[in-house]
Amino acid sequence: MSKKKKRIEEAVTTEDLWKIMLERIPPIVSEYFRGGADSETTMRGNVKAFQQSTTTAKGAIKFGNLDLSTQTVGHTLKVPWYISPVGSLRSLYPMADAVASKVAGEYGTVMAQSTLSGTPMEAVTEASENSCWFQLYLCGGKETALRGIERAKKAGFTGLILTIDTGVSGLRALHAKMNPMQVAKPFKGVGIGEAFALMFRKLSVAPQMITRLSWLIEHTRDGGLMEFVNVVDENGQAMPYADIGEQLASSAVTWDDLHWIKKAWGNDKPLIVKGVHCAYDAKKAEDLGASGVIWSNHGGRQQDRVPPTLHIVEQEMPHMSNSKLDFMMDGGIRNGTDILIALSYGLKAVGLGRVTAAGIGAGGALGLRRAFEIIDSDLQRAMRLVGLQSISEIQQMGCEIRRKNLLLGDSHLPEFVY
Ligand SMILES: Cc1cc2nc3c(=O)[nH]c(=O)nc-3n(C[C@H](O)[C@H](O)[C@H](O)COP(=O)(O)O)c2cc1C
Repeated sequence: MSKKKKRIEEAVTTEDLWKIMLERIPPIVSEYFRGGADSETTMRGNVKAFQQSTTTAKGAIKFGNLDLSTQTVGHTLKVPWYISPVGSLRSLYPMADAVASKVAGEYGTVMAQSTLSGTPMEAVTEASENSCWFQLYLCGGKETALRGIERAKKAGFTGLILTIDTGVSGLRALHAKMNPMQVAKPFKGVGIGEAFALMFRKLSVAPQMITRLSWLIEHTRDGGLMEFVNVVDENGQAMPYADIGEQLASSAVTWDDLHWIKKAWGNDKPLIVKGVHCAYDAKKAEDLGASGVIWSNHGGRQQDRVPPTLHIVEQEMPHMSNSKLDFMMDGGIRNGTDILIALSYGLKAVGLGRVTAAGIGAGGALGLRRAFEIIDSDLQRAMRLVGLQSISEIQQMGCEIRRKNLLLGDSHLPEFVY
């Protein structure tokens, strides 16, 4: 067994996989996946909110098999987590979105593919034995988005996620300082003076590439810096890898857009609104025909200083008691106990963003399978210790399985890894 494979198989927590990912991927790339907005208060808060939550435990209980299945927006998932849309996943591993959908399919769950992805959407649905969802940004404008929706339907996606929290891109300060767009700029068309400056800039990242040669070779063989192959203009031209911030700002979504998006996607298929922070927006989404809502602060990458998603869920779910929506959440989930706590608020499923990046970045399918194995055994262990045999029991028991945290301060909490 290769050393790399052994390390992945010996990983005990998803934090172990994250550390392997950081060793394999050059910092100028991995920082895109790590970073949060501004001071990263919300990003860390997402994780801390789970660490500060406590559960009950019941003794003298013995179960046979557990039932991890759940239903959301007309889909049955064999496990109560799905892969959240993560842009540029392919920079971590060749054809990463298809690799992720394959692993999600093996687990009987859903891969949600980002618009900002370098893998053709057909390859993603093709790789999975289960359903896939497509996440929509309106990059390139309405006509481009309509082409994307038609293509997603044809490719077999069964759910459309509309992300509403990216009216502008958040400032991820450390990555901005690394200026990856400058490093990626081609020499073609630049004057001699700029060419020299560009060469020195490219040389400055050589040390981090040389120490990560296996990534560099695989990435180059996979085609290098990808185009956004699912965002295609009227001439069939894919959107080049450009400044995503500018793209998002010029294509911000409004509630009015939901009308034509819903019509184009079709009333028979679920529309899910992601990036919802308050009951007002959730109700608006429901009124406009959404089937599901994902409470999410985008992994702390957009507006810093908004509450951790778990706190949003705790504060807003009670206002939605008359709603027919299916609710999900993402942000800060790193292990199975986190999932148990999230579902106890009545959610149907949770999304994994950086856990997916940790697994894929550590070693493609091997790494993501290990991440899923860890989460799976974590969740099963937590369910047995708390005394719950099924996901529906977690959802029904609700606050009865949560305990008020009476510890003051946070010096007892584990160190923040990711
Ligand atoms: C590197 C990265 C890229 C992301 N790209 C997208 C995206 O293209 N579309 C989207 O809706 N959300 C995107 N997200 C947000 C995730 O879908 C999800 O909300 C978030 O990662 C959840 O937090 P977690 O990373 O703590 O699990 C991205 C997140 C990360 C970490």
